[in-house]
Amino acid sequence: MKKALVLVLFIQWICTVGFGQSEKMQWFADAKLGIFIHWGIYAVNGTDESWAFYNKKMSHSDYMEQINGFLASKYDPYEWVDLIKESGARYTVLTSKHHDGVALWSTQTNHWSIPKHSPAGKDVLTPFSAAVKEAGLKLGVYYSILDWSHPDYTGFTKDSSRYAIKDNPERWEKFVQLNKIQLQELMVQQNPDLWWFDGGWEHSAEEWQAPMLGKMLREHNPNVIINARLNGEGDYDTPEQNFPIQRPDEKYWELCLTTNNNWGYQQNDKNWKTPEEIIAIYTDVVCNGGNLLLDIGPMETGQIPHEQVEILEALGDWNRKNGEAVFGTIAGLPLGHYYGGSTYSKDSTCIYLFLNGNESGPIQVKGLMNKVLKAAFLNGGEEIEAKVVGKISWSQKPGLLFLSWGQKRKLRSQTIPVLKLTLDGPVRLYQGKGGL
Ligand code: GLC
Repeated sequence: MKKALVLVLFIQWICTVGFGQSEKMQWFADAKLGIFIHWGIYAVNGTDESWAFYNKKMSHSDYMEQINGFLASKYDPYEWVDLIKESGARYTVLTSKHHDGVALWSTQTNHWSIPKHSPAGKDVLTPFSAAVKEAGLKLGVYYSILDWSHPDYTGFTKDSSRYAIKDNPERWEKFVQLNKIQLQELMVQQNPDLWWFDGGWEHSAEEWQAPMLGKMLREHNPNVIINARLNGEGDYDTPEQNFPIQRPDEKYWELCLTTNNNWGYQQNDKNWKTPEEIIAIYTDVVCNGGNLLLDIGPMETGQIPHEQVEILEALGDWNRKNGEAVFGTIAGLPLGHYYGGSTYSKDSTCIYLFLNGNESGPIQVKGLMNKVLKAAFLNGGEEIEAKVVGKISWSQKPGLLFLSWGQKRKLRSQTIPVLKLTLDGPVRLYQGKGGL
């Protein structure tokens, strides 16, 4: 009896914690590409988002002065969403409030906001959320839990702070309540699919009351996904700018990346990554089981810089041709089997090999136990030769697979072409030391 009860409880636990988690994460795991949007008053003079006053490149009042230039005069959330959709992205995350404390929505709290303090004079978050949902994309809301502009927040600039929590716990509690109220407003008004927290590093989970905030958000929407920056509450990891060298152990992760050197719009930053570089990073992320959250920074008018439009269009073009190898796939061959990136179809009966654009073949795959039924390029579908060499008839060990295409396809002008191998069943790999 006791045993049966334990078993029932265990099954219940698996359903809520185990299976529940992977079920709610499924859209995220399949999505592969998201677009991050940093839009705020920093776009007015092209200063570092929030960090400009924190790092004392300018005074706080000069920084906040920018709010008077935030016009949003050409802001069309439908245009943004069309572009995001065209890129192939399945979700998007907009900065509802950065570390400078300026809310893009009509907050009832007594604090900075675009509707109340800028000439734009309107909520610029809610129409975006509506357009995102209408387009069938998933909505992410970025929220900075630290707020260097708020009089009740502890930190201010890199070498000055307002107070220490231990000396004034009531004041800190007032700040925690501000976060709670703002998050409640966002939760009810925007009902995001994903919360992208930031700024958690300045305090402990206990100080932020992170478990209380996490519980509140999950009670409102049990399927909501939370990134790992609400100390201890996260569903997935968020490496930033720097690509992990090893395939991360975490089941779910997302690399966030700028298109030039900055998150927000800066007219002087011309250090654009090329579309080819972005696609190379994107496919590498996907081959290692992650998502790419690629950032754009609209101007204060709401226009998206044309370089970013071009990058998103190029991504869209690539995704339309090769999306089969990306969306809904899983991380591919472990290191050592193929010198490049690869993904598997979800049932692992297909392997997608990502090629360097200059590749002329043949390429080699080691340790593949399966028979290759067909090898063909995506986007055009030319079938190519899959030749196995070195297979010993009476040995269980596989031979070496060589794929060559000779003159069949000129790869030189293409960005990351993809070869699809259709196997005789789910992938089986040999990982031994060779020999007979
Ligand atoms: C960092 C920065 C912030 C930026 C964020 C995006 O946490 O503080 O400015 O918005 O990364 O990932």
